[in-house]
Amino acid sequence: MTDNWTFVCPTSQLLPGEQTVVWEGDTPILVINWDGEFYALEDLCSHEEFELSAGKFNPETGTIECVLHGAQFDLRDGNPTCPPAYEPVRKFPVRTDETGVWVQVVQ
Ligand code: FES
Repeated sequence: MTDNWTFVCPTSQLLPGEQTVVWEGDTPILVINWDGEFYALEDLCSHEEFELSAGKFNPETGTIECVLHGAQFDLRDGNPTCPPAYEPVRKFPVRTDETGVWVQVVQ
């Protein structure tokens, strides 16, 4: 087991379409189960640093929309797909094992 892995939750507590937020130090991490695949982004819109987790995840496009001004980010790479955000949000590796879901945060 390498360092910097943060336990998120058992896989049974993060079913397809569900999301949760965990903290690693000062970093909030949004973890989403998209049709059985897990993705993790920093829970911080790159436009004006609002919580992305307050927004809506669209399973058709794999994007999450910031509720403050409507920027959308692709879950797969953290890149914005529309204004007013132009910078990506941080993306983190995710893995699962028999205990549950883990994210790797390298500060
Ligand atoms: S803070 Fe997210 S779009 Fe403005």
